[in-house]
Amino acid sequence: MKITVIGSGYVGLVTGTCLAEVGNEVCCLDVDPAKIELLQAGGIPIYEPGLDDMVRRNVAAGRLHFTTDVAESVAFGDIQFIAVGTPPDEDGSADLQYVLAAARNIGRYMDGYKVVVDKSTVPVGTADKVRAALAEVLAERDAQLDYSVVSNPEFLKEGAAIEDFMKPDRIVVGAEDERAVEMMRRLYAPFQRNHERILFMDVRSAELTKYAANAMLATRISFMNELANLAETLGADIELVRRGIGSDPRIGYHFLYPGAGYGGSCFPKDVKALISSGKAHGHTLRVLDAVEAANDAQKLRLVDKAVARFGEDLSGRRFALWGLAFKPNTDDMREAPSRVIVAELTRRGAEVVAYDPVAAEEARRVMGDNPRLRFAEDMMSPLDGADALLIVTEWKMFRAPDFEAIRAALKAPVIIDGRNMYDPAWLREQGFDYLAIGR
Ligand code: UDX
Repeated sequence: MKITVIGSGYVGLVTGTCLAEVGNEVCCLDVDPAKIELLQAGGIPIYEPGLDDMVRRNVAAGRLHFTTDVAESVAFGDIQFIAVGTPPDEDGSADLQYVLAAARNIGRYMDGYKVVVDKSTVPVGTADKVRAALAEVLAERDAQLDYSVVSNPEFLKEGAAIEDFMKPDRIVVGAEDERAVEMMRRLYAPFQRNHERILFMDVRSAELTKYAANAMLATRISFMNELANLAETLGADIELVRRGIGSDPRIGYHFLYPGAGYGGSCFPKDVKALISSGKAHGHTLRVLDAVEAANDAQKLRLVDKAVARFGEDLSGRRFALWGLAFKPNTDDMREAPSRVIVAELTRRGAEVVAYDPVAAEEARRVMGDNPRLRFAEDMMSPLDGADALLIVTEWKMFRAPDFEAIRAALKAPVIIDGRNMYDPAWLREQGFDYLAIGR
């Protein structure tokens, strides 16, 4: 099939490349000429394991190409994916200007039937707006052309996006006419595994499903974070509690890890957008208000522990910080807890020397000109003479460090671990002052 993907960011690039991988012809559009030039030259603008090889392989096979030419890209695909950004507005609602601009472009240049697929995470009712935008432009052109608007939200996890796309748990498709349903069924046929993965539904339900999934997951995390904080006070171990409740299949083990708060491009944005969309329709989503407030507080939990240990005024203190990205296997710094942690530690006068195996460059870009923040090239050098080690992101390389070397380097052996990486009993036996989350 011939497919156009509008927006070559994270979601668009993964979608386009994976669809090319199974044999489709794919055209990826972006308005940013620098990004398109980079892609044409074989470079990848984001860090995602496995994506670079897959892009190169499909470009070489002639199935995948990149362009900034809107007219060409609209003419190309029978299916037009809209995968542009939906940044939060000031009030937290999703800003639809890029989605609607894409829809208008399709209307402007289409010359036959198109299936227009909303891939971006958009509030319920967006498909109607996309349909209206298309209709308006077609009316201006006085063109009688058929189109269908479909909602097909993505459920990709950064760092595992290729795997998630190629082997999906489910593919949610909101489509309301037979022609579109048939095209989407054909498009996703290569991704079916032992049993049916596509869930067809009406467009509004598909739109809401995406928010519901992310809000539910964010809720689990905030719930566990609050329980972990309580467990500390009560003298319980949240790790044991987690296993104790996860064994109930209605609860399950996934996504029950307390930590330094959730970040990333999805959870914070989608929780805010759902709250705001509720408000717009007269509903207060009380649970989600609490989920958000709990998460804001949790991002400061490591600082609270540092303050409890070293006092309110941290001037003259220096902290080694491991992990900047909002989670491992990505360089994504969006809403990363490390940003709040570094800002608060340095505001209190401390110096921070940070190490991240992948995200340092991106971190420098987003939080660069802080005179109290330095970046290290390796994980051990920040420890020299530091007052404590703070762990913010659970990169694999931090799992089994040389504790003897850590003890020798630190001023006093203090580890404040936001990801529960180590066995508390063992570390305490080794003489460490080990402050974890909920244990
Ligand atoms: C998420 C959803 O998982 C994905 O389905 C959706 O399409 C986009 O949003 P992503 O943001 O890439 O994906 O990351 P994810 O691995 O889900 O982690 C999100 C945040 O939650 C991270 O900050 C992570 O550290 C935190 N988290 C996750 C916890 O604190 N505890 C957990 O148990 C799981």
